[in-house]
Parts: sequence; structure tokens; C-alpha cells
Amino acid sequence: MAKIGNREFVTFITSRELQMRVKSMAEELTADYRGKDPLFLIILNGAFMFATDLLKEIKIPARLSFIKVASYRGTESTGEICELIGLSENLKDKDVILVDDIIDTGLTMKKVMDKVREEKPASVKIVSLLLKPDAFGNQFDVDYVGFTIPNDFVVGYGLDYDGYGRNLKDLYKLK
Ligand code: IMP
Ligand code: MG
Repeated sequence: MAKIGNREFVTFITSRELQMRVKSMAEELTADYRGKDPLFLIILNGAFMFATDLLKEIKIPARLSFIKVASYRGTESTGEICELIGLSENLKDKDVILVDDIIDTGLTMKKVMDKVREEKPASVKIVSLLLKPDAFGNQFDVDYVGFTIPNDFVVGYGLDYDGYGRNLKDLYKLK
């Protein structure tokens, strides 16, 4: 059990289980991208721990870069504005792999994908450690999923509750 902020969390997926699954995802990516020149775009902050473990097990040449999504309300005519911070690479004709911690409603990933596609990459695939299908409802393909989980709030292994818990090595869920 872990107390984070004012809430109690119980162990949901252990570090050992996470490591095993992440390793097998890396093996799949290694096989699928052999002979290519993939660029991993890691979405901060949540994906940092997952991406670290995943990339250590990728056995082909690969580049990586970190991006952050900033959303803010624009004017009435522009609606919500989404900006990708940190994207300095030229993505044209590249095989891009987006790495995130969790897809819940899918709104964040959809925005990132739209922005990335504007740069005309050769391909864009999505890797997410976690997927909550209840909220997401299959709006687009998530190409590599670590664990499909129920609609519970989870924390640890990069994911936070009110800024805390990202450093925990196991994944917890709300008690
Ligand atoms: P989405 O845009 O609804 O798919 O959610 C995107 C972001 O919400 C994720 O990248 C997380 O930062 C956060 N999030 C969604 N569900 C959880 C959760 O259970 N725990 C911690 N963060 C979450
Ligand atoms: Mg995230």
C-alpha cells in the first residue's frame, strides 16, 4: 500500500510484471523496425520511466527525443490551441514512434498525432504502456499496448497523482 497525497493506493502491477511486459514490447518493436531508422518521440512527463526501460531493450539503432504537450484556450475562433514543446527534429519521411504512459480519453494523443502528421513523416505508430478502453472507445489504433486496464485511477512508474508518485517503481491503483 502507498499513501500519496491524501489518498490510499494499493499495488496493481508490480515492477517485475512491468519489466517483463516492457521487455517483450521492446522485442516486438526491435523486430518490426529492423532495417529502418526509427525516431522515438517520448511524451513527457508521464512516459519518462516507461521510455527509459523500453529504450534500454531496443536492440537496433534508434534516435529519441522528448516532447511535451501544452494546451491552452485560444480566442473564440481558434478554440483550444495545442503546441508541441521540444520538437526540434525534422520529421519528414521519418518513421516516428510516439511513446506515452497512458491513453485515457485519447485526446492528448490525438492532438500529438495531428501535429506530428503535419510534418509529413513516412509513418507514425503509437506505443502506450497503459490503455483505458472504457473512456477511449477505439477512436484510433494504438499499435503497441502494454496493459489494457479498467477505468481506475493509477499512479506510479511515471504516472502521478497531483504531481506525486511518479518515482514509484510499481504501479498502484486507488484503494
Ligand atoms: P487522455 O488525454 O484523456 O488520454 O489522458 C492523457 C493524460 O491524462 C495522461 O497522459 C496522463 O497524464 C493523465 N491520466 C489519465 N489517466 C490517468 C491515471 O489513471 N493516472 C494518472 N494520470 C492519468
Ligand atoms: Mg501522459
